[in-house]
Amino acid sequence: MAYTPWLLPAFLCMMCPGHAWIAGNFLMTGSKAYLTYAKSLQVGTQSGIEECKHQFTWDRWNCPESAVQLKGLRRATRETSFVHAISAAGVMYVLTRNCSMGDLDNCGCDVSRNGKIGGQGWLWGGCSDNVDFGERISKQYVDAQESGQDSRAAVNLHNNQAGRLAVKATMKRICRCHGMSESCSVQTCWSQLSDFRGIGDYLKVKHSQAQKLDIDKKRKRAGNSAESRGALVDAFGSVPETELIYLEDSPDYCKRNISLGLYGTEGRECVQHGEGLTQWERRSCRRLCHECGLRVEERRAEVVTSCNCKFHWCCKVNCDDCSQVVVRHVCTRREATEGHALRRRHRGPK
Ligand SMILES: *[C@@H]1O[C@H](CO)[C@@H](O)[C@H](O)[C@H]1NC(C)=O
Ligand SMILES: *[C@@H]1O[C@H](CO)[C@@H](O)[C@H](O)[C@H]1NC(C)=O
Repeated sequence: MAYTPWLLPAFLCMMCPGHAWIAGNFLMTGSKAYLTYAKSLQVGTQSGIEECKHQFTWDRWNCPESAVQLKGLRRATRETSFVHAISAAGVMYVLTRNCSMGDLDNCGCDVSRNGKIGGQGWLWGGCSDNVDFGERISKQYVDAQESGQDSRAAVNLHNNQAGRLAVKATMKRICRCHGMSESCSVQTCWSQLSDFRGIGDYLKVKHSQAQKLDIDKKRKRAGNSAESRGALVDAFGSVPETELIYLEDSPDYCKRNISLGLYGTEGRECVQHGEGLTQWERRSCRRLCHECGLRVEERRAEVVTSCNCKFHWCCKVNCDDCSQVVVRHVCTRREATEGHALRRRHRGPK
């Protein structure tokens, strides 16, 4: 895997030019532990980002690189809440896996419940994934990115935690039968991480249900003061830890505005027909093109592949070249000559 340094949160940027001060920070706050987990932090963050890109493939906002820098252009929208949650979850996930795989000296499986009755007909046993370890280290390093005391930092920390809770909420119980030849009179069970896709799917639903935090404007403007912290405590009190929250409405993701890190949907690909598409996918052209005032352009490309391959004894394979037309659909600007040029049919930020 290749990593573009600017894509990574600052804590992974020890080797990046101009970021020496961050490395210095960590050198002072326990670099030995940091170095032990550096690879896992990097892999975890990267898998979070990849999952984000997968989950938002057919959304107007598709998790662009500008959005996955955890420092810099800071906003607290519904989308940044997802980036925070999935990154924190990714780090926790990889560390938990590392632990169960025996990659790390200082942790292993969670066997604390082994031998105890879990439910009717089953006992805890085997190697349960040690999520508490992963959670602790993720908290320590990912949450350290939020140095601020303002409402935005508090929202980011809340969303990090919601991501970690998603890892726990999606865990599965796996059981093995014991007893006289498969009678399964006794089972031992352990809890295991879901695959990471399951966590991404779970958090995508949380994204769609994210709640806007209503912080009193006047108190919010108070900045760092006790007044503003009081407003925060009031506002957070009503939101469960598992839910994603945001402060600002999403910008119009149809529109391109590079200085805001927005690319717009012009040039994006969408899907129209095809088997096994979900409703969300089938509506992608409407969402990305039509509702953004763009039209769908069909682009055909000829792709040459090998086909009709025959095996000749021994050992030769002869194939024909077959050309196949591949159709892609891309959002493009309406021509100015079209009567309905630039009439936007945009509804909502999706
Ligand atoms: C943790 O797991 C990841 C891949 O899942 C691997 O790249 C990394 O090296 C592991 N960490 C350690 C300390 O072995
Ligand atoms: C981009 O957004 C900024 C801030 O809202 C605004 O001032 C600027 O005019 C926008 N640029 C374009 C090209 O829309």
